[in-house]
Amino acid sequence: MSRQRILIAIALLVTAYILPAAFAQSSTLAATPPMGWNSWNHFAGKVSDADVRATTDALVSSGMRDAGYLYVNIDDTWQGERDAQGVIHANSKFPDMKALADYVHSKGLKIGIYSSPGPFTCAHYAGSYQHEEQDAKTYAEWGMDYLKYDLCSFRDVLKREAGDDRAKAFAMQKAAYQKMHDALAATGRPIVYSLCQYGLNNVWEWGTKVGGNAWRTTGDISDRYPRMAEIGFSQAGLAKYAGPGHWNDPDMLEVGNGGMTEDQYRQHMTLWVILAAPLLAGNDLSKMTPSTLALLTNKEVIAVDQDPLGKQGDRVSAVGPTEIWSKPLSNRALAVGLFNRADAPSPITLKLQDVGFDKDAKLRDLWKGSEVTAKNGAYTVTVPAYGAVLLKVRR
Ligand code: GLA
Repeated sequence: MSRQRILIAIALLVTAYILPAAFAQSSTLAATPPMGWNSWNHFAGKVSDADVRATTDALVSSGMRDAGYLYVNIDDTWQGERDAQGVIHANSKFPDMKALADYVHSKGLKIGIYSSPGPFTCAHYAGSYQHEEQDAKTYAEWGMDYLKYDLCSFRDVLKREAGDDRAKAFAMQKAAYQKMHDALAATGRPIVYSLCQYGLNNVWEWGTKVGGNAWRTTGDISDRYPRMAEIGFSQAGLAKYAGPGHWNDPDMLEVGNGGMTEDQYRQHMTLWVILAAPLLAGNDLSKMTPSTLALLTNKEVIAVDQDPLGKQGDRVSAVGPTEIWSKPLSNRALAVGLFNRADAPSPITLKLQDVGFDKDAKLRDLWKGSEVTAKNGAYTVTVPAYGAVLLKVRR
């Protein structure tokens, strides 16, 4: 071969194999916190093929897809029996998973599924224990783009095999999560890998190492203000563990499920975007009020969560029931959340110098979509009971 031909051959090799491999290993998967919907918070054990199709349609017609909600995630209770070869099949609620995945994809969306490293899921359906490679292959064949992997009955396995040996149990747990990661990677399909083990063993310290794109940091959320606030405000200090491709997950959204007021849901959403949390709506999208839709799809609010810098926010101060949190954004801007956890409206003052800005900083109220002005380097606003105000501060 002439020298020129050799050079061309090398260039082709680099373009065809080496560059894509390098990108696959970079953090393009879940480069910003995953957004979408999950069946559990509203449908729980009743979710069916028809619900997932209706949700898919609603994501498109409501504008949620275009606002960034991409993943349609089926949670627990889809599983049926394993066949003689050990291949998992869906139960009668999901007559044809591949066809369902094709439908979701045909709408420009992605689809997710759920399993456990244990023999059973939390709702006592079949888990992936000792079928990891097989299940990963099945998910990839169906066209799955996201897996939530929930510890559940693997805790019994740990008890049985590790007893009181905590170090052994911890090593076994990490190995189980790693195993499914490797099985997913071996399929060659990019599948977002979401760990769910309720924050045990400080998962934020090792979730990335076992291949997690996100990990739950707490037990389950519920559609009640005290539980949402308990979870959300307990996330202080975790920011340094999150970044493009690997996110802390304080659990799915409850917005629109009916158990909180509009202001409480606004606080929920504001806190989650400051936390760079995955935004997985958990309501029945086919029956949404305009207020729910507005809370879920405010573009400027979502942009805080999805900011390409990929930094999680943290608490700046807490005075009685009022808290100020901030999140660094690209272009040296900052999102600031003003939170009122009390049952009466309360003025909250942001002193710009407390968040590293001088008195000439520009302020925008993102929920209102309007510029606001600081006076003498401070901005005071009355925050409703259990409500929140979200500001963007820039130079
Ligand atoms: C656990 C998880 C929930 C949900 C249920 C399903 O409780 O934390 O998010 O997936 O299992 O059984």
